[in-house]
Amino acid sequence: MSEQNNIIELNNVCKEFKILNRHEGLKGSFRDMFSRDYKTITAVNNVSFGIVPGEIVGYLGPNGAGKSTTIKMMTGVLEPSSGEILVNGRVPYKNREANSQNIGVVFGQRSQLWWSLPLVESFKILKDIYRISDQDYKEMMELYRSMINLDDLLGKPVRQMSLGQRTLSDILAAFLHNPPVVFLDEPTIGLDVSMKAKIRTLIASLNQEKNTTVILTTHDMGDVDALCKRIIIIDKGTMLYDNDIDHLKNFFGAYRTLKLNLNKRNVEVSEELQKQQMECVKTHLEEQFPDVIFSFDREDEWISILIDESQISLMKVLSFLQEQIKIRDVRLEEISTESVIKKIYEGKV
Ligand SMILES: Nc1ncnc2c1ncn2[C@@H]1O[C@H](COP(=O)(O)OP(=O)(O)OP(=O)(O)O)[C@@H](O)[C@H]1O
Ligand SMILES: [Mg+2]
Repeated sequence: MSEQNNIIELNNVCKEFKILNRHEGLKGSFRDMFSRDYKTITAVNNVSFGIVPGEIVGYLGPNGAGKSTTIKMMTGVLEPSSGEILVNGRVPYKNREANSQNIGVVFGQRSQLWWSLPLVESFKILKDIYRISDQDYKEMMELYRSMINLDDLLGKPVRQMSLGQRTLSDILAAFLHNPPVVFLDEPTIGLDVSMKAKIRTLIASLNQEKNTTVILTTHDMGDVDALCKRIIIIDKGTMLYDNDIDHLKNFFGAYRTLKLNLNKRNVEVSEELQKQQMECVKTHLEEQFPDVIFSFDREDEWISILIDESQISLMKVLSFLQEQIKIRDVRLEEISTESVIKKIYEGKV
């Protein structure tokens, strides 16, 4: 590894936590009080990657995968148990003050801002902390004004804001001192669709305008589609994948989804009947094409059939089904980011 122009570099990074092995019941609690029985869990296991300036990278994985722990090590909040981390040439945990000039951080679940101060006062404190010049501060405010409705926010204490406004404010605060790297840990969590869109646009614009490197964790594939060209996937502390999202989709290029609706328009169909319809389609296909593996799913009236076109063509499946059953409506879908990621989590890559 060790590419010269990487702004972030992790080499064989591990993080272990020692946690108390709790015993059940009253007897157990007594035991815990007197004997310290620890077990070690490995939250991050031998993770290595390099990120070049200006990239937006999605850092993905199921719950408890080790995403936040990795982010905390990159921001200097936690020290790795072993391995090396460099962020913009610095070891994050060794010099936290200098490092904080390097980075901006948003943790989606909690605000970094002063709860009862109007946002503009928080910004002024940050201006002092980061020694932002008057000129730079003014320019940043102008930039923000061009991107969102800033004046709605500035006078408001964070405590009185909606979750969406608070998230917007947190993101603006994280970019305020124009750090080369910004970490966003689940920035869209809990937001509605339109607020998510707003946040994504803001992140994309700031990245473009300032060439900020962004590492983002999320469970929302909409974030990934909107923002990330590259994804890194981690599960149980271990890296599973690091590549372009397009590359992944090509890998799954042979898969397409055929969606069928068998019901008359505007007719209520019971859940039970919908289930039966899917079973019926399944039986037909499995009898006709016993060697082909299909995967079925259902959402309301729509039956989805995931077809591997290296095994059988989608048109062949469709024309066979049309002979067997009455189909009202058909849709075709290329494989989604969501199902690609799901397959990686399931270990099918
Ligand atoms: N301070 C800590 N002490 C002990 N164990 C911890 C600590 N922080 C995290 N862990 C454990 O480390 C593992 C990874 O946690 P982490 O928070 O990094 O996961 P995550 O990928 O961010 O998950 P999520 O998607 O739920 O946010 C989990 O098993 C978690 O319980
Ligand atoms: Mg987390």
